[in-house]
This record gives sequence, C-alpha cells and structure tokens, in this order.
Amino acid sequence: MAVDIKDLTRGEYELFRKLVYNKSGINLGDQKMQLVRARLGKRLREKGMGSFKQYYDHVVDDPSGEELCGLLDSISTNTTHLFREPRHFDFLKKMIAQWASDTLRCGGEKILRVWSAACSSGEEPYSIAMLAQEALREHPGFELKILATDISIQMLSKAKLGLFEAHRVGTVPPALKNRYLVKKADAGGQMLQIAPELRKVVTFARFNLMSESFPFRHGFHVIFCRNVMIYFDRPTQEALVNKFATHLQVGGYLLIGHSESLNGVEHPLAYVEPTIYRKK
Ligand SMILES: C[S@@+](CC[C@H](N)C(=O)[O-])C[C@H]1O[C@@H](n2cnc3c(N)ncnc32)[C@H](O)[C@@H]1O
Repeated sequence: MAVDIKDLTRGEYELFRKLVYNKSGINLGDQKMQLVRARLGKRLREKGMGSFKQYYDHVVDDPSGEELCGLLDSISTNTTHLFREPRHFDFLKKMIAQWASDTLRCGGEKILRVWSAACSSGEEPYSIAMLAQEALREHPGFELKILATDISIQMLSKAKLGLFEAHRVGTVPPALKNRYLVKKADAGGQMLQIAPELRKVVTFARFNLMSESFPFRHGFHVIFCRNVMIYFDRPTQEALVNKFATHLQVGGYLLIGHSESLNGVEHPLAYVEPTIYRKK
C-alpha cells in the first residue's frame, strides 16, 4: 500500500545536508532541496516510510552503514562516458611513451600504476585501460595495473561487469573498439563487453575519498580524479589534493575534470597545463 510522505522541511534538509557532507564531502549547498526531495523520496517510497525524518533516523541508527551507502548512492551524480574529456587521453598516450623510455634508460619497475579515484560505472578506468594497454604493446615486458574506486556500491557492481550498450561506445577510437570490446552473443549483439584480458588489469574497490587513511602500498604514476571535486568545498579539495600528492610517484600526474580548477587550493604539485598537475 502506498504511504503518504510528509513533505521535506528545511530543517530535515539541513540534517541530510550535514550528513552527506560529513560522510562524503559532497557539499549540497542551499539550492539542492528539490534534488534531495526527489531522490530520497523515491527511497522512502521503496521502504514504505512516511517522513524524511523517519528515513534520516533509520540511516543514522543503522550500525551496518548499509543505508548510508544507499543514501549516498541516491544523492551522488554518476554521469560519465567512455573517453570523456579526450584531451587527457592524448596526454596519457604521450606520457606513457615517455615514462616507458625513461624506465628503460634509467631502470625501475616496469609496472604502470594508475588510479581512477571516482570511477563511477567504469567508463573512465576502462578507457584508461584500453589506451594504456595499446600504448604498452610497443614496450614488451611492461605491465599495467589500474585501481578503480568509488563510494557507490551500485556503480561499482555495474563497473565490474564491463558491459556497455552498443550505442554508448561511439566515443571509443575504432582500433581500440575492435581490439578490446567484444560482442556479447547472448545479448543479441546489442551489448559490448570489455575483453577479459583487459578487465583483469582493473581492480575495483569501494573507497571513500574522505577516508582518513589512504591504504595504498605503491605510488601511482597517474591519478585521475575527474568531475567529483566539483561537489566538494575548498578545504575538502585542498585536503584531498594534498593526500593525492603523497600517493603520486615523483614525476607522477594528477588529472582533474575539464570544468574543475585548483585555483585557490594550496598544494605541492606543479601546474603543467589546464587540469594537469605533476609531482616535482
Ligand atoms: C560524475 S561521476 C565522475 C566519473 C568519472 N570520474 C568521470 O569523470 O567521468 C562522480 C563520481 O564520484 C563519486 N563520489 C562522490 N563522492 C565520493 C567520495 N567521497 N568518494 C569516492 N567517490 C565519490 C560518485 O559516486 C560518482 O560515481
């Protein structure tokens, strides 16, 4: 039976706003009341709850944290696509060629380590994987390891499948599409899947960028953190970029979204070109 839901009050909105900020760094600001009403309203209906306060109490009283994940899943924006912001992929191709020849000349581990730090449904790490694997074909003996993380469990389970509708792969360069995307026969040819050998180089894990500790053993050559910092305020961005800096290898790069900037953020990275920074 459908339950009537009491409208979201300003006070309830503030409760959710604080909770979302404290748990994910996402700053909803004053203007997102309609978004919260619509997205959480759906969740309330699924749970048969009659008020936003009842749902809020349910989230904060849930010791498993499961409903908090559900709440953050509903609030966060997961928009992405394959080879989004292609300038970064042109850059990555050149950077890999340079890194491989430097490694051959100077020695060092022949493993390229990349982190896609807010990977959503996987389009970003798989784009990186296709491009990097292709670039490394010219350098036998080199290996690729991609860590792909997100706060959203729902997005991560989608990402792990590596399945895309045929009409969503138009941005993939044809040579990469032919080599790394395979038709899924049992889906009538309408779906394409990332080739198994490429799926193997990507490790998906849930990771909240607001975590105190970043438990990564190796430094990364490249960190992609695109189109998520836009939802964070300056102090949160600053803390995060400084953490990224400690997890980059010397000479490694941080790439942020094309509509994002680190203006006014204090950090130790050197500016390379718009949206690209390097650890000195
Ligand atoms: C708009 S998508 C960006 C996807 C991809 N990086 C791109 O540029 O196409 C933003 C992603 O950030 C994730 N996100 C939001 N807050 C996060 C947090 N605190 N920690 C980790 N991921 C977070 C969301 O779940 C969402 O999948």
